Amino acid sequence: MVRWGSLPCSSLLTAIVYLLLLPGWTLAEEQAAFDCHVSTEGANFDLTGLSGEHTLNRTRNTPPTKMVDSLRFNLCSDLKPQEDVAEGDQCPKGARACLTSVNQKSQESDRIISVITLAMASSTRSVTAGLSDPKFISILFAGPEYSSPSESTPTKQFLNVTVHCDPNSKSDPIFLSYDDSLLALEWRAPGGCPSEQSPEPPKDHDDKDDPKEENVGSGLGWFFLVILLAFAAYFGLGAYYNYSTYGARGKDLIPHRDFWQEVPYMLKDVISHLCSSVHPRRSSRGGYVAV
Ligand SMILES: *[C@@H]1O[C@H](CO)[C@@H](O)[C@H](O)[C@H]1NC(C)=O
Ligand SMILES: *[C@@H]1O[C@H](CO)[C@@H](O)[C@H](O)[C@H]1NC(C)=O
Repeated sequence: MVRWGSLPCSSLLTAIVYLLLLPGWTLAEEQAAFDCHVSTEGANFDLTGLSGEHTLNRTRNTPPTKMVDSLRFNLCSDLKPQEDVAEGDQCPKGARACLTSVNQKSQESDRIISVITLAMASSTRSVTAGLSDPKFISILFAGPEYSSPSESTPTKQFLNVTVHCDPNSKSDPIFLSYDDSLLALEWRAPGGCPSEQSPEPPKDHDDKDDPKEENVGSGLGWFFLVILLAFAAYFGLGAYYNYSTYGARGKDLIPHRDFWQEVPYMLKDVISHLCSSVHPRRSSRGGYVAV
């Protein structure tokens, strides 16, 4: 007897459902390295003009010391390691934005207090765009978590880059704020102006793996679509054949009706067999407990 609600069966079914969903799932999870080309619904943005490494400092007075929060970032390619800084005092490979807090005290050498990665090349991102006044693009990078000793739980880090449209000139970026989780950065540049959507979105030059992955995903989609269409054609033509040849009506229209009526029972048998081998249980036929 198959108990549908019992654990092994439901977990088996869950596993099957996950397996079917998996391809679409991993596609959504993985982000290609950010290449400064952004396509939103209705417009493209080209932020390559903002490439290059920038450093922004913010100083806080914490007598008798001073804290310098130093943000080093490059939106379009990975930050290069700094040669004069110990490896442990730097953000990891692939970082695009790195916030270092340095404590300064007169007559003493500087002390690095914290090194926080705000964005990685492949950080998940969400985009907000203004397509008519005001024109802008805002990209929120969700970076890794940072565990500071004062917080009991690690804090997820975000970098919010807003580029306001200025067709004629480029300003310097401004460090607006940082609240231990979200750093806001602002800019005025031509890159913040939307351009009309071209029929083909700009190609990812850096990341050659991405198109392949999409092919795998859409290939799988095609596979299921073809199977679905084949089934539809089979039932449609079969029903038409039964109708025109035997004048069948209602349930009798189903081609190979005897076989399809058996299918639910066959499935039930298969699942009960699988379930009993996953988790041995009392069999209704034998009445013994399988080992
Ligand atoms: C920012 O602060 C860091 C650390 O104190 C310092 O090395 C760097 O020269 C400063 N950069 C600018 C542009 O002020
Ligand atoms: C990012 O910054 C822009 C401009 O300051 C703001 O409109 C937007 O709400 C910010 N996004 C988040 C998630 O804070």
